[in-house]
Amino acid sequence: MGRYLAIFALLCCASRVLSQDGDTRIVGGISAPISRYSFVVQVLQSGQMLCSGVFVSRRCVLTSANCIAPTNNTGQNPENFSVRVRTESLNEAGTEHALLTTEHAVSALEVHPNFNRTSLDSDLAILVLTRNLTPSLLVSPVEVALNDAPDNASVAILGWGRLHPNSPEAFSPTLQIAEVTTISREQCRTRLPQQPVTDNMFCTVPLIYQGYVCAGDKGGPVLHNGSLAGLVSVDEHCSPNLPSVNVRVSQFRTWISDMVKKHNSGHTLGGLSATLLIFTLLTSVKLNL
Ligand SMILES: *[C@@H]1O[C@H](CO)[C@@H](O)[C@H](O)[C@H]1NC(C)=O
Ligand SMILES: *[C@@H]1O[C@H](CO)[C@@H](O)[C@H](O)[C@H]1NC(C)=O
Ligand SMILES: *[C@@H]1O[C@H](CO)[C@@H](O)[C@H](O)[C@H]1NC(C)=O
Ligand SMILES: *[C@@H]1O[C@H](CO)[C@@H](O)[C@H](O)[C@H]1NC(C)=O
Ligand SMILES: *[C@@H]1O[C@H](CO)[C@@H](O)[C@H](O)[C@H]1NC(C)=O
Repeated sequence: MGRYLAIFALLCCASRVLSQDGDTRIVGGISAPISRYSFVVQVLQSGQMLCSGVFVSRRCVLTSANCIAPTNNTGQNPENFSVRVRTESLNEAGTEHALLTTEHAVSALEVHPNFNRTSLDSDLAILVLTRNLTPSLLVSPVEVALNDAPDNASVAILGWGRLHPNSPEAFSPTLQIAEVTTISREQCRTRLPQQPVTDNMFCTVPLIYQGYVCAGDKGGPVLHNGSLAGLVSVDEHCSPNLPSVNVRVSQFRTWISDMVKKHNSGHTLGGLSATLLIFTLLTSVKLNL
């Protein structure tokens, strides 16, 4: 009972945070309706926010290799990592938002074999959850784009990264989304002379006075027409004046689907259903009050 009350209190406070309009001021992003983008997760190391990630299947979370394997491709302990899924939900009356949070253990890590720490080429890794997530309206994998986003196209970046370079919080309490524009690799190389921009990458630039990538956003998705066209690879600049470098996901469709196939076995996870059940119970408790 005490535990339920604690969760209930959490849901209350979370929903209050969500309903505030104070998020637009920082790094230009705005809060995204998590129910629509619930494939974007927080990747944690020893319980601490590390970067963002995205469900590509019920069991596999795609993220940046330089985030989870900064020094070598092997030797990381999967047990040190976990994935936090935060989903927003409406109550039965369809009005009030609540934030459901579930944390899932990781049983294996896959770092792309061609990941190059110097150039950040092939900057992809997959965190394999211990069990499959129950498919639900609140958590569903992203669709991987078949084609590249063209140059000068409008795309969306999403992430749980810092709201401000000097923010005391390591991550944003609400998922952030911002519209950015793709630029050609040639243009990007000119603007980022210090940084390798390989053919497996593409760059985006912020719109004037709009959002840009900051620490913690790496591993987050770049969506073109609703599909996963990129993955944020570099989030250290945290500047509106520099292009942001992303993994060109179209080059890695085969590797991603091979990893998903390799890890598609396992029991379906009851955790989310349990959370939903608790949530339903709480909602009914609340209505009875
Ligand atoms: C690889 O990295 C992990 C943690 O990042 C570290 O604990 C391990 O010692 C490293 N292994 C080698 C061979 O450098
Ligand atoms: C990873 O896990 C090992 C063993 O549990 C632990 O000794 C180590 O400190 C952890 N590393 C990090 C970076 O949390
Ligand atoms: C990694 O990238 C650096 C810089 O581009 C390059 O010099 C090096 O040869 C690459 N390493 C491998 C193994 O491809
Ligand atoms: C994109 O914009 C640049 C400069 O604004 C322009 O030179 C280029 O031709 C455009 N590319 C496409 C594919 O529209
Ligand atoms: C955008 O996606 C929709 C459905 O996902 C598809 O029907 C449409 O053709 C796509 N548009 C472009 C410009 O790719």
